[in-house]
Order: sequence, then structure tokens, then C-alpha cells
Amino acid sequence: MNILAIESSCDETAAAVIKDGAEVLSNIIASQIEIHARYGGVVPEVAARSHIEVIIPVIEQALEEAKVSWENIDAIAVTKGPGLIGSLLIGVMTARELAIAKNKPLIGINHIWAHAFASFLTDNKPEFPFLALTVSGGHTTLSLYKDDLTREVIGETLDDAAGEAFDKVAKLIGLPYPGGPAISKSAESGDENAYKFPLANLGKDSFDFSFSGLKTAVLRQVQEITGVNPGSMDNKKSYELDEKIVADISASFQKAAVDALIKQTQKAYLRYSPKALVVGGGVACNSYLREKMHEIIPNAIFVPPVLCTDNAAMIGALAHKMYQQKKFIDPYELKADSSLEEI
Ligand code: KG4
Ligand code: ZN
Repeated sequence: MNILAIESSCDETAAAVIKDGAEVLSNIIASQIEIHARYGGVVPEVAARSHIEVIIPVIEQALEEAKVSWENIDAIAVTKGPGLIGSLLIGVMTARELAIAKNKPLIGINHIWAHAFASFLTDNKPEFPFLALTVSGGHTTLSLYKDDLTREVIGETLDDAAGEAFDKVAKLIGLPYPGGPAISKSAESGDENAYKFPLANLGKDSFDFSFSGLKTAVLRQVQEITGVNPGSMDNKKSYELDEKIVADISASFQKAAVDALIKQTQKAYLRYSPKALVVGGGVACNSYLREKMHEIIPNAIFVPPVLCTDNAAMIGALAHKMYQQKKFIDPYELKADSSLEEI
């Protein structure tokens, strides 16, 4: 039983073929990182245009690499939200057309849900109910997954997503986009205790997150070091930081961001006593987060890095569960939803 899965919610155009919900036959990802890097972040119009250019070749390559012909595809799955509307539309329209032309059942997928279900593609599959921390450039969510089709969101970011904070701080200290990997690398030679950045205190019963105070604290620190006034912060040439300072800020910021993620996750883990903890999404590639989380919750299941950043294999993993429950949608009914919450 093979599913062709398509993902285009942000700046990666991806297609994958997943066999029996567990085996990744192909996982093709066309990244737009180089295109957006020169703007210091994702430009939605540019992302949509780039998806149009590559989506058909990416799908063809996924089928070719999987050595599966259209007759052996049992269903088509596509991300319907959340994400950038222009980007989502390209995947959704393509999947609708293909489902009609090839006469295949169609499944619409929630991208955040799929980040957590990427764990079903590993040898260490979680049991229900499991707690999932999904940390990416657009989302920071703690959810309790009760079965294949039911989840309860117990905490979310009130402002910036964790990855967004990494990206913005990187820009501020002169590191390239995407900021997460750049900060993580720079932090290796930095002192995490060089600067004291605050942790948001949202109350003992809250499982939410907030990263805007942390981002502002870094901004104030950079202003103090450089003497540059806030109005000129966007002008890259108005200041330059010494490499050691960049490394120290990276390490201190990373520590504060990871501490915040761990604090809320640990609190939720103790409160709900789930059978497993799954950590996924782009920020879950962060090795400091992996190390610190394992110290506290040793059997935490981290999605492997290639399945953490946006990909279509995770879309196929969730689609398999929905296929088993016959959760198909009429191609004429499928719509992109940029702020989708339900499955
Ligand atoms: O899941 P993803 O590919 O896309 C979204 O759905 O947003 O996540 C991308 C985000 C970016 O903000 C990037 O900076 C962050 O994940 N990221 C990292 C690391 N690798 C990627 N953040 C921290 N440490 C990393 N090693
Ligand atoms: Zn994502």
C-alpha cells in the first residue's frame, strides 16, 4: 500500500512515497533556502512562485526514485495547512488535479500534526497517548496525541515561534538565514553564561511559550555593546560584532531558548504522564536541545533531523493512519487553510 505525499506549506517543495505507513521509498526535498537567504527570511510571493516551478519535477522524481508507477499508488496526500497560503495553494491544487486525473483517493493533512507523526517512520514508534513538542519556524506547540485522529493542544507560543526567534536573533548578530543551524554552530565556541537572558514566566499552570521578551533582551544587549540606537538596527552596516561576542550571544540565547522549551515540556510531561514524548519540527535538529532534553526525559523520541525540517515523508506517515480510517476528501472540496487547527 503506497501513498504519494506532497508538502509545500512554506519554503520547501517536497514529495515522498511511503509504503505501509512505515517505509520511506523516496523523500525528495527541493529547498528554497538559497533563494530566501539573500532577503534574510522567507518571502511568501517568491516561495509560491518557486513551488510552481519545481513541484511537478519533484513529484516525478519521488515516483522514479521509489520505483513505483501510478498504478501502484493507492492514495495522494497533501498538506492543507497551516502555512503560507500562496505556498499551500500550489500543493493543494496540484494534488487535487492529480487525484482527479489519476482517479486516486485524496487525503488533506495538517502539517503540525504530521511533524509529530514523523516519529512513526522511525524504529522507536510512540505509543498513545503521547506528548509532542513541535518546534519550527512557524509554530511552537505542546500537544497531547490521544489516538491517530485526536489531539489536544495544551500549550502554544503567545508571540514568536522558537525557530523564528533563532532566525531573528541570528539576523541581529550578523549570522545567515536560517538562523537555527547558524546559531547552533556559533554557540559551540561561545560561553552560555556570558549573558543572562530572561525566561518568560507565564505562571505555574501554563504550558504556553513566549519568545518575544528573550528576543528583545538580546536586542538590548547588542545595543549596549555596539552603542547603536534602535532605529538603526535594521541597517546591517551600522554595526559589526566581534566573533567572540557573536559566539557568546549565540550560546547564551540558545541556552535561554532551550531552557524555556524544556521547562514547559517537563511540566506537561509530569502533569499528563504520557506514554512517550516526541520532539519534532526544524528546531528539534538542535543538538543542545536534544542533549538537555535527554538529560531530563531520557526516553524522549527525537525525530531524525532529515524528517524534522519540512518534508513530505511525514505527510505520508499521517496520511497512512487517515487512509486506514478512510478519511478521504472529495478533490473539489479540498481547500488550503493557512491557520488550520483540526486534523
Ligand atoms: O520545520 P521547519 O523546516 O519549517 C517550518 O515548518 O517552519 O523549521 C525551520 C526552522 C527555522 O526557523 C530554522 O532556523 C530552525 O527550524 N532550525 C533550527 C535548527 N535547524 C533548523 N533551530 C535551532 N537549531 C537548529 N539546529
Ligand atoms: Zn514545518
